[in-house]
Amino acid sequence: MSEALGTVIATEESPSTTEFSFVVKGKGVRKGQYVQIRHGAGMLFGFVSEVIKSNRYFERAESVADFEKGAGMAAQFPADSWEYMVAQVKVLGVFMDKRFERAFIPPSPGAVVHDAEPDVLRSFLGFDDKGLHLGSIEHHDVLAKISLTRLLQKHLAILAMSGAGKSHLACVLLEELLSRKKEDGRVAVIVVDIHGEYAGFSHDPVFGKLTTVVEGQDIAIPLKKVHPETLMEWLPYLSAPQRDVLRHALGSLRESRKDGSGYSFKELLAAVDEADVSKDEVKRALKRSLSELKRYKFLSRKVENPKLASQIKPGHLLILDFSPIDSLRKKQILVSLIARRLFSLRKKGKIPPFMLLIEEAHNFAREKAEESEAVSRAIIETMAREGRKFGASICLISQRPVNLSTTALSQCNTHIILRVTNPNDLDHIQMSSEGIDARVAKSITGLKVGEAIIVGEAVNSPIFISVRDRKSLKREKGAPLHQQALEFEEQAERKAKNAEAFL
Ligand SMILES: Nc1ncnc2c1ncn2[C@@H]1O[C@H](COP(=O)(O)OP(=O)(O)OP(=O)(O)O)[C@@H](O)[C@H]1O
Ligand SMILES: [Mg+2]
Repeated sequence: MSEALGTVIATEESPSTTEFSFVVKGKGVRKGQYVQIRHGAGMLFGFVSEVIKSNRYFERAESVADFEKGAGMAAQFPADSWEYMVAQVKVLGVFMDKRFERAFIPPSPGAVVHDAEPDVLRSFLGFDDKGLHLGSIEHHDVLAKISLTRLLQKHLAILAMSGAGKSHLACVLLEELLSRKKEDGRVAVIVVDIHGEYAGFSHDPVFGKLTTVVEGQDIAIPLKKVHPETLMEWLPYLSAPQRDVLRHALGSLRESRKDGSGYSFKELLAAVDEADVSKDEVKRALKRSLSELKRYKFLSRKVENPKLASQIKPGHLLILDFSPIDSLRKKQILVSLIARRLFSLRKKGKIPPFMLLIEEAHNFAREKAEESEAVSRAIIETMAREGRKFGASICLISQRPVNLSTTALSQCNTHIILRVTNPNDLDHIQMSSEGIDARVAKSITGLKVGEAIIVGEAVNSPIFISVRDRKSLKREKGAPLHQQALEFEEQAERKAKNAEAFL
């Protein structure tokens, strides 16, 4: 075993089966460190929750004030040598016969505390040698390798304030998913990229050949492949008579195009006109609503892009770059379309198990949404509830967890939380993440960029990790502000010069 860290002391409440304190030998103990104590035939494991320094010379304010008026405490007494450190430890369990159990007996006062052994720590935390390497455990030489199944099967949420490192962590996760060997099980990955942050993957020398980018404005689906009920979900405010007309028009188009040739939007509008309804008002209102969908230009007669059934491949990444799209409603409709198609193709076994990663998830599964804004929420909630049975995983990323559907969030069995300072968001995260107790919640505000807490299904107890560096090329849209400003002025100057030269 490693060198001793200290000795267990007796206080009024400890050692108990849940906590103990030890006096630190030397200075080598840090908050967050894992420790172990020989415990009968096994090994008791704990986590340093706080470290406190003490010195009896400085206990009484009155005498400190008095001595500091003169030459100071240190000049007259050997005060420094009386300083000592006490570490408070939360007991996590006992490792015996290769199994972890709860502690039924406390460690004894006087017991010697050691640094946790890496091998035992790995199995204690539930790491997997073939898992996804997301970062490392602080204070220990242990890589955080998280089991693919435990992390993703029951869905993942990455929550943090803006700039805390959510997208960075997501890129690390994608690198790991794309680097997996066939024999370890590979999933396909689809990313809804709101700000064009993931494009670097397609230019990367290693990941480029595994990556396809589809620009948001090029996404298209043949009208005949859209289920009438889905179409109506996109237009939630249609009246009952309008729905009837639409259903009828779609039915008759399907009937007349049995050869599979499909139909265009224009033909759909014509079919609405021909519907056997006396009230023209109904038809006009329906056509007005449909023309909104027409404006978004993604419903085609034949063109399909991406071709999900053939383009979703194990170990491959499909990026849907939504950065050129302005309308939130169009983005929501596209998310609804893609998620529905993916889930349905997966259920039929036509595509491999996949992970659908959605950035800014609060915009697509909003907790309190107007009906017209909620088009993509239903399918995200359905996938969150039922996806695990079919190998359809979702990863929701959000900087506004308060606005994220609680149904969807609570079905994400693993939460990775980076820095959050807003008290409302903190409360919400604490309520929706099961593994978070008051101690863990308190640490969330103290996290630095790139530090994360993993709680839930993926790990045996909440862990703190430093997210590793990226291996893939970083290529973001949105250069630093000063550079954008400079480029703008240089361009303006160039134009002015050209104009002068021309005159
Ligand atoms: N673990 C890390 N190591 C090194 N740099 C990091 C790490 N995490 C984040 N960063 C850097 O911090 C910056 C912000 O990170 P990122 O864009 O991932 O934040 P975000 O949470 O996605 O923000 P937003 O909410 O605005 O999308 C980036 O420049 C990123 O490179
Ligand atoms: Mg981001």
